[in-house]
Amino acid sequence: MDPIQEMRRQVCEELHGSVTIVVLGASGDLAKKKTYPALFGLFKNGFLPENTRIVGYARTKMTQEDYLKRVTQYIKSDDTTEFQKILSYVSGQYDQDESFQQLDKFILDSEEERHIQVGKRHRVFYMALPPSVFITVAQGLKKNTYAKQGLNRIVVEKPFGHDSESSAHLAKELGACFTEEETFRIDHYLGKEMVKNVMMVRFANIFFSQIWNRSNIDNIQITFKEPFGTEGRGGYFDEFGIIRDVIQNHLLQVMSLIAMERPISTDAEDIRDEKVKVLKCIPPISVNDALLGQYIAENGKPSYLDDVTIKNKDSLTPTFAALVLFVQNERWEGVPFVLKAGKALNEAKVEVRIQFRNVAGSLYNGAARNELVLRVQPDEAVYIKFNNKQPGLSYQTIQTELDLTYQNRYTDMAIPDAYESLILDVLRNDHSNFVRDDELVAAWKIFTPLLHKIDAHHSDIKLSNYKYGSRGPAELDNFMKRYGYDRSNVCYSWPVQSVAPKKE
Ligand code: BG6
Repeated sequence: MDPIQEMRRQVCEELHGSVTIVVLGASGDLAKKKTYPALFGLFKNGFLPENTRIVGYARTKMTQEDYLKRVTQYIKSDDTTEFQKILSYVSGQYDQDESFQQLDKFILDSEEERHIQVGKRHRVFYMALPPSVFITVAQGLKKNTYAKQGLNRIVVEKPFGHDSESSAHLAKELGACFTEEETFRIDHYLGKEMVKNVMMVRFANIFFSQIWNRSNIDNIQITFKEPFGTEGRGGYFDEFGIIRDVIQNHLLQVMSLIAMERPISTDAEDIRDEKVKVLKCIPPISVNDALLGQYIAENGKPSYLDDVTIKNKDSLTPTFAALVLFVQNERWEGVPFVLKAGKALNEAKVEVRIQFRNVAGSLYNGAARNELVLRVQPDEAVYIKFNNKQPGLSYQTIQTELDLTYQNRYTDMAIPDAYESLILDVLRNDHSNFVRDDELVAAWKIFTPLLHKIDAHHSDIKLSNYKYGSRGPAELDNFMKRYGYDRSNVCYSWPVQSVAPKKE
């Protein structure tokens, strides 16, 4: 069977042809920008079972018309008429039993109306909510709205706490309401096409699996760059900082896929077992292995502290961090993994860059180190920096690339948004791309000591300034050099926007 058809069949079978998806926080930003467009994508492509209803829930009082207008405004399609027919809205509080009972009644009526058999009245609760109400809402749902005659699933988004202790508390409270099997913790990076490709590249290609170790790899960088600052999101950001916002979750997830051992199968638990194992081999990050920065104004662009939503005008929250992690096992001992992320930098880019060792006793001057790059965004690509003879009479060594740029190779591809792919996994009951509770524990252990020092403005912590639109703090190149990164081939630059080669 065609694999897409097979996925549609899986969803239908898993949910017996019907489900009610409740979007909590339906009036918020995440819901309108990500959740509803993703649900629309699934609807349009036939992935929602025929008898699906989507119920928005939030405190705001809204007419059905206002609700529809709000949740469809980010959907890139002229025709949402059919989709709108399965949407409805209930307003209620997050901390009152009666509100959740009304929601329950609303869903029950809709289940009756749809003639859904008892035992098949499944509910998915999508929490597009601020963390301050996670626990209260989960408790309210469990007590009043939990399906008694069907399956329950709850989808939660980061932040999962702000350190080991708060994360353990959240896990305990949520765990008292929903089982691990019912819980899907989203890290949307796990839904990105290139991130989903990492295991395939590693474990389905013999030439990669053989060289994936400390004997051949010198250092690995996982980089996240955004060309804009916090701009209005400062209230949230200032409490979290770039390490909690991006590195501890998104980049660490990517790292665990790059560093883990081969799982015994592609089953969700086998994959997650290996991810947890590798995380447990990483000791807490040392302050000496961290470079932190905050952006300042440049060329008419504001500084971080100019953001009006930041209350503390002396804030020392990092907006840039380069952190070096080491995996203490046989495969990786001594290989630095540099996790780098920054706001207000010179470009938008997320990539994994694996730099190989020098060729021993190289015959050729000018041969640069090989690098394998997995470009996550923009413009998905896998390429290898590669030494080649200058074609023609010359024997000069030149750097070139073996290039798999998706837009050139897969001309009719349609890459779904990460959320679309992840919500589909929730419906199929596939946990592979979600964060397990023990994974969270292991992840926080690596970061908590450093974060506590940063929060306490410990005297060991230094925060460098960098200009809006720059590559980051001026110390960055020297810092990278300390961990072996060789930028000698800097004159070579990857032709990002490369399209089909020009004919002469
Ligand atoms: C979010 C962070 O989790 O990821 C944001 O909170 C960040 O600060 C965003 O901008 C990046 O996601 P994407 O999909 O745009 O790379």
